[in-house]
Amino acid sequence: MTRISKRLKAITLYISSDDCVADVGCDHGLLSIYLVENKLVKKVIASDINQNALNSAIANIKKRNLNIETILSDGIENIPLKEINTLIISGMGTSTILHILNDNKKLKKIDKLIIQSNNDYYLLRSSLNEKGYYLEEENYTLDKNKWYVTSKFIKSNKRNSVQELKYGFLNNNNYNNYLIKKTENIFRRIPFTSLKAKWNYLMKIRELKKAIYKNK
Ligand SMILES: C[S@@+](CC[C@H](N)C(=O)[O-])C[C@H]1O[C@@H](n2cnc3c(N)ncnc32)[C@H](O)[C@@H]1O
Repeated sequence: MTRISKRLKAITLYISSDDCVADVGCDHGLLSIYLVENKLVKKVIASDINQNALNSAIANIKKRNLNIETILSDGIENIPLKEINTLIISGMGTSTILHILNDNKKLKKIDKLIIQSNNDYYLLRSSLNEKGYYLEEENYTLDKNKWYVTSKFIKSNKRNSVQELKYGFLNNNNYNNYLIKKTENIFRRIPFTSLKAKWNYLMKIRELKKAIYKNK
């Protein structure tokens, strides 16, 4: 059986057995392989924009004698979306993720998005809320000394609160402490000559601490 990293395992927490998944930007294909080997979903399509990456997924799938469709595609362009209700997009920045999700008509039948972005979580969460996806769950995973944010969005008219859009659910003390430290480090690095920037970061730290305290 294929082993996957703690980071990729965090994605599988939001998978259910009736999901028909497209793993967009599958690279090596290990997540798709894990989902199929462990019978966690109904169907998986593994896709990537890069032929070399896709070739490595194809080789890994072949080695294990599995039946997983692979498709060369920029985002969801070439994926037969009639067969799919869930998209997994991980290991990319928010701007690439939003590029992949830019065509609302193509998302008609997509009920769930599982996203693991590298950055700009406020932009990601608020842009997806605007597209009609509600942030239902989020987990914060430390893997090889790096924090990963894994978000589950479901199709819904509900909107998240501004606090949820900015910070997520603030339900992991270790991650909360990391967020505070990261913001404090940026504050410390801003020179006193940039008083306005320094003040803004001081306010950010206060707001973050207040949000964490309110959540307790
Ligand atoms: C860092 S890898 C992440 C692989 C895997 N999803 C993971 O989380 O381990 C990013 C992958 O996304 C692919 N990619 C980048 N932009 C893409 C796009 N617009 N459409 C599809 N795949 C894309 C890259 O070719 C690369 O294989």
